[in-house]
Amino acid sequence: MRMAKRIENLPPYLFVEISKKIAEKKAKGEDVVSFGIGDPDIPTPAHVIDRLCQAAKDPVNHRYPESEGLPELRQAIAKWYQKRFGVSLDPDKEVLPLIGAKEGIAHIALCFIDAGDVALVPDPGYPVYSIGTILTGGEPYYLPLTGKNNFLPSLNNIPEQVLKKAKLLWLNYPNNPTGAVAGLDFFQKAIEFARQHDLAICHDGPYTEVAFDGYQPVSFIQASGAKDVGIEFHSLSKSYNMTGWRIGMVVGNATMIDALKRVKSNLDSGIPQAIQLAAIEALSGPQDCIQEHNAIYQKRRDLVVEMLNSIGLEAKPPKASLYVWARIPEGYNSVEFTTDLLEQVGVVVTPGTGYGRYGEGYVRLSLTIPDAGLVKGLSRLAGWRSSRIKYGDKRVS
Ligand SMILES: Cc1ncc(COP(=O)(O)O)c(C=O)c1O
Repeated sequence: MRMAKRIENLPPYLFVEISKKIAEKKAKGEDVVSFGIGDPDIPTPAHVIDRLCQAAKDPVNHRYPESEGLPELRQAIAKWYQKRFGVSLDPDKEVLPLIGAKEGIAHIALCFIDAGDVALVPDPGYPVYSIGTILTGGEPYYLPLTGKNNFLPSLNNIPEQVLKKAKLLWLNYPNNPTGAVAGLDFFQKAIEFARQHDLAICHDGPYTEVAFDGYQPVSFIQASGAKDVGIEFHSLSKSYNMTGWRIGMVVGNATMIDALKRVKSNLDSGIPQAIQLAAIEALSGPQDCIQEHNAIYQKRRDLVVEMLNSIGLEAKPPKASLYVWARIPEGYNSVEFTTDLLEQVGVVVTPGTGYGRYGEGYVRLSLTIPDAGLVKGLSRLAGWRSSRIKYGDKRVS
C-alpha cells in the first residue's frame, strides 16, 4: 500500500504524549479534570431542539438536501448578519451554509491553493488553516501573534518573496487560542494590505457572540471594502451550543463563495434539512440564550483567571472567546508544564505549542467545563506547586 505524500506531510498530532498520560491515569482509576476542549457544556436551547424533532418527523426532510442550503436558511443568515452587524448580504450570492465552519475552512484551500502557493496563517492559530493549505500542496507562512502586538499579526513584516507567492490571508477574531479581539481599524488595514498584494482574506469569526463585560465584537464584513476582498466563516457551534449538530456558514465575496459552492457541490451533499430548519430557528428565534450563556462563561472566566494568577501563571481576562490564554511560570516549556499539571493534580490544559511555535510559553484553558468540574479543577489547581527552578527556557513573548 502506498499512501499519498500529503498524508506524510501532515504534522504529527502534538497531544500524543498528553493523551497517553490521560489514558494511563484513567486506567488507574484516577479521574482527571479537563479544561482542554472548547466544546460548550451547556445544552442547545430547547426551542431549537423542538424544531429539530418536529422537522425530523417530516418525510420532506428525509431526502438529499440541496448542497447550497435551503433558501430560507440563507435568508435567515443574511437577516441575522443585518440585525447583528448592520451589513447587507445577498442570500443567493453572498451566503453559503456549511457543515460546520471547519468544513468550509478546510475546503476553501481547494479554491485558492495550488502546489507551491502560500497561505498566510496566524501562529498560534486554529490548526485547520494550515492543514487545509498543506493538504492542497501549499505552504503555510506563519504570522506570529505575540503579547507585544496584542496578538494581532504584523502584516508589514512579511518578506516580499513570500507575498509574491501568497494568495490567502487567514485572520481569526475573537481569537482561538489567545482570546484576543480586533477592531474595525485592524480589519480596515488588512483589507488595504490585501488590495496591495492581491490577497484574498478569510476571516474566521465563530466567537463573535461569546463576549463579556458588555463588549460586542465586530464582524470583518463590517469593514468597508470587506466584501471586495474576503469572506467570513461563522458557525452556530459556539453561539447556540450546537457543536454536535455541524452547522455553520460563510458570507461575503460572491466570487469566493461561488468557488467554494462549486467545490462543495462536488464533494458533499449538503446539510441534513432538519438541521437546517433548526438552524433557522436558532438564528431567527429568541436570542436571550446568548446573554445567559455569556453570564455563565464570564463567572467561570473570572474564577479561572484569579486562580491561575494566584499560582504563578499570568492571565488576563479575555473580552471574548471561550478561552483563557495563560503564560506559564519560568522553568517550563508548555508541554512540560501541561504534563506536570496532569501528573501532580490531575488537571488537563492544552499546551500553547499545540497551536504553533509561537504558542510556546503559554497554555490554553477552555471555559466550557460544567460548574461542578470547574470547582473541582480550581481546588486542584490551588494545590499545584512549581517544582522548577528558573532556567533559560524556550519561551517567546
Ligand atoms: C477558530 C475556530 N474556527 C472554527 C471552528 C470550528 O467550528 P465548527 O464547529 O463550526 O466547525 C472552531 C472550533 O473550535 C474554532 O475554534
